Amino acid sequence: MNDNAADGVGAEIATAAAIDAAARILENGGLVAFPTETVYGLGADAENPLAVRTIYLAKGRPADHPLIVHLAAGADPGYWSSNVGALAEKLIAAFWPGPLTLILQRAKHVPDIVAGGQDTIGLRCPAHPVAQALLHKFKAGRGGLAAPSANLFGHVSPTTAGHVREEFHDAPLVQCVLEGGQSAIGIESTILDLSREKPMLLRPGGVSALQIAQLLGVMPGAPDAQAPRVPGALASHYAPRTPVVLAPGAGLAEWLNALVSSGRRVALMRHTLQHDADQAHTAHAFAFSITSMQMPAAPDAYAHALYAALRQLDRTKADVILVEALPDTDAWRAIHDRLARAACGSAERMSHLIR
Ligand code: TXA
Ligand code: MG
Repeated sequence: MNDNAADGVGAEIATAAAIDAAARILENGGLVAFPTETVYGLGADAENPLAVRTIYLAKGRPADHPLIVHLAAGADPGYWSSNVGALAEKLIAAFWPGPLTLILQRAKHVPDIVAGGQDTIGLRCPAHPVAQALLHKFKAGRGGLAAPSANLFGHVSPTTAGHVREEFHDAPLVQCVLEGGQSAIGIESTILDLSREKPMLLRPGGVSALQIAQLLGVMPGAPDAQAPRVPGALASHYAPRTPVVLAPGAGLAEWLNALVSSGRRVALMRHTLQHDADQAHTAHAFAFSITSMQMPAAPDAYAHALYAALRQLDRTKADVILVEALPDTDAWRAIHDRLARAACGSAERMSHLIR
């Protein structure tokens, strides 16, 4: 396999035969990683508690963290939720298949372990054609696949099949990784909780709060103390091994100077173009201390590239990943959210460098 294929560029998409075989593995209680338009998922039969337990084992994820159940387009959400309701129906009609997960009351027959013991259930209908083909084959379209992102607990989510293999290279529990190229969106779905009085946005993502508000006529609220615990909402999550620092507004050059002058190797993620003067300065003084990655300037393209960039910069063995400050607008909200979580705890991890 060449590097491009490993990165999902020009990778071959799973064949019908591979998808068929994957559906059989799932029906027999095995685990299959599959592509979605957000990130790759690690799937198991949502109605098989032992299979779901295996997901937690493979990821090293605490078993009280609920999973999202993925459904085929056109499947009946009423099978999974005792109380779908008019708001959910409106959202489903507008945004499914797509990057929107709905938290609804859980139907009694849905195993406890899928929901991490909560009386609610997360439902999502992914838009990726391979995910849909798999969901239509699996139990003839009438089943659900419990699937968290296909990464070890707390680590960066995978956006290519190569990333999934990197995460689980020796893991005997992951029986198959379906190829689907690079995930188009690149960050996880929006999570909207409809199980309480007022819609609550638990995680920003590809469907924005504004789009939801326009459809429902009410702005979703921010999670409060009563909101369910969501591991994706843990302060630290989606983190590479290298500490991540978000440069404050205009302070990028100053941060670079300070870090490099104190002997640090810096992996820099910037999305604005470097000024010439800046560049000359960097080239002469810091050439050996800085690896610079040019990110796209538009938010959708930035999100698409984000996790692959973090993985790549992680491999440079830099002391710190320094991220240029992002615009403070709605379109960048989900990216802000993921980078803030990736940066969380980095100060402590860096303290040994700064001594
Ligand atoms: O885009 C995505 O959502 C990807 C792809 C694979 O579909 N999946 C994903 O799954 O990001 P995961 O497990 O990494 O994150 C799912 C989030 C978790 O933060 C989990 O706590 C939350 O969804 N969640 C699932 N069910 C829930 C429930 N019943 N109540 C509250 N939060 C729930
Ligand atoms: Mg995850």
